[in-house]
Amino acid sequence: MLPTEMLAIEIAAPGGPEQLQLVTRPLPQPGAGEVLIRVAAAGVNRPDVMQRQGRYPAPPGASDLPGLEVAGEIVALGPEVGGLKLGERVLALLPGGGYATYAVAAAPLCLPVPPALTMVEAAAVPETYFTVWTNVFERGALQAGESLLVHGGTSGIGTTAIQLASAFGARVYATAGSDDKARACERLGALRGINYRSEDFVAVVKDATGGKGVDVILDMVAGSYVPRNIDAAAMEGRIVVISLLGGSRAEFNMGLLMARRLTLTGSTLRTRSVAQKAAIAQAMRAQVWPLLEAGRAKPVVYATFPLAAAAAAHALMETSQHTGKIVLQM
Ligand SMILES: NC(=O)c1ccc[n+]([C@@H]2O[C@H](COP(=O)([O-])OP(=O)(O)OC[C@H]3O[C@@H](n4cnc5c(N)ncnc54)[C@H](OP(=O)(O)O)[C@@H]3O)[C@@H](O)[C@H]2O)c1
Repeated sequence: MLPTEMLAIEIAAPGGPEQLQLVTRPLPQPGAGEVLIRVAAAGVNRPDVMQRQGRYPAPPGASDLPGLEVAGEIVALGPEVGGLKLGERVLALLPGGGYATYAVAAAPLCLPVPPALTMVEAAAVPETYFTVWTNVFERGALQAGESLLVHGGTSGIGTTAIQLASAFGARVYATAGSDDKARACERLGALRGINYRSEDFVAVVKDATGGKGVDVILDMVAGSYVPRNIDAAAMEGRIVVISLLGGSRAEFNMGLLMARRLTLTGSTLRTRSVAQKAAIAQAMRAQVWPLLEAGRAKPVVYATFPLAAAAAAHALMETSQHTGKIVLQM
């Protein structure tokens, strides 16, 4: 028997971490093509912080509760769900609603929990793996033998990008805000971690690549990094912007885009259709799941908090001290 109510963290009003409050909500019902998951763990992501601050509203139709990813057990199937069973352990990408003891997920965005992972590790997979797959390997078209520069190397996104790109045979460079974090990037597989506070990443990657520059750049900073990324890119390089932590405006020399035949692109994941996200899920199941199953890639979990301490989890994320993921346990 399922309960009629669940515990959840809601955003009482836009503001600081203290606005995250534990509440009781009615159990959500899965609609057509959806399943209900009893959540074991839920990942915390920087976009949740932005949503809490009132800077990243939930897309139409999504839960108002924060939380873009969970791992747990399927406890109810909506109509028209094929290929999933009650009791199955899955991890799922959500448009919202993950900070709760139960969450509704689109069936095509549920993937089996690799046996090598705990439920906490599994909950740390969806948001960063979907984002890295579609931006680095699809938009950025990173190939084995090419080079990748990851900004924010110790972020949840960055740690995933370093691991996956290394596992697929790329040479990876990563920036981070301290020497310790630069070394953490190297332990994850980067050839060179770059402390951007004391080193110029353009000079370091040019030097490391014999003056050629890097083939792909994954950028969550933008702003003043845009012209520097263009300087750091190789001929035919691809620069993929996924966030604007350093600002949304930039001035740069368009002539260099032409002269070096560069591609400057970007994307967001949350607003894409279920069908578009399902295509990413299928590609990852074929290409990334064997790595997770073999232990060749594994999410880096920095800290876990009980659901009721979601505010402390957000406060930690905002310090940027962490390397890897922060996860809520139910
Ligand atoms: N486009 C998409 O589809 C998509 C999907 C998911 C996430 N994202 C974005 O990707 C970014 C990483 O997400 P995450 O959950 O992995 O975040 P996270 O773990 O909180 O890491 C963010 C890191 O960014 C670095 N950073 C650089 N400049 C910063 C600034 N001005 N303010 C704050 N931090 C700064 C910090 O590391 P240092 O101290 O080392 O600089 C920080 O640790 C976020 O901006 C998020 O919005 C985009």
